[in-house]
Amino acid sequence: MSKKYTLGANREGAINLLPDGIIKLVQVGSTKVCLVRMAEAVYAFQHLCPHQAASLYEGKVNGMGQVICPLHHYRFDMKTGDVMSGTCPDLKTFPAKLTEEGIVIYI
Ligand code: FES
Repeated sequence: MSKKYTLGANREGAINLLPDGIIKLVQVGSTKVCLVRMAEAVYAFQHLCPHQAASLYEGKVNGMGQVICPLHHYRFDMKTGDVMSGTCPDLKTFPAKLTEEGIVIYI
């Protein structure tokens, strides 16, 4: 059963919190997650790479909605978590969206 969390006081606060295309590490409840906003879309995913546990918040995102691990450059789809290049388990993702109340995320 997932729990709903809201980050930021409102939509504008959420946008300020998450500059476009920047990976932020946030603590949501007892879970650390990476958050990325790309225009109106928000992605949330586990902060440690499923390959060898590098810190994905030190990675980069590309224009195809993928996060690139800083260590061996494996790529993961931020929406589905699918590994797009490399061989390792998929990334765990969490439902997240931008709303008038802020960023809503389900952990
Ligand atoms: S630790 Fe992320 S690709 Fe190897």
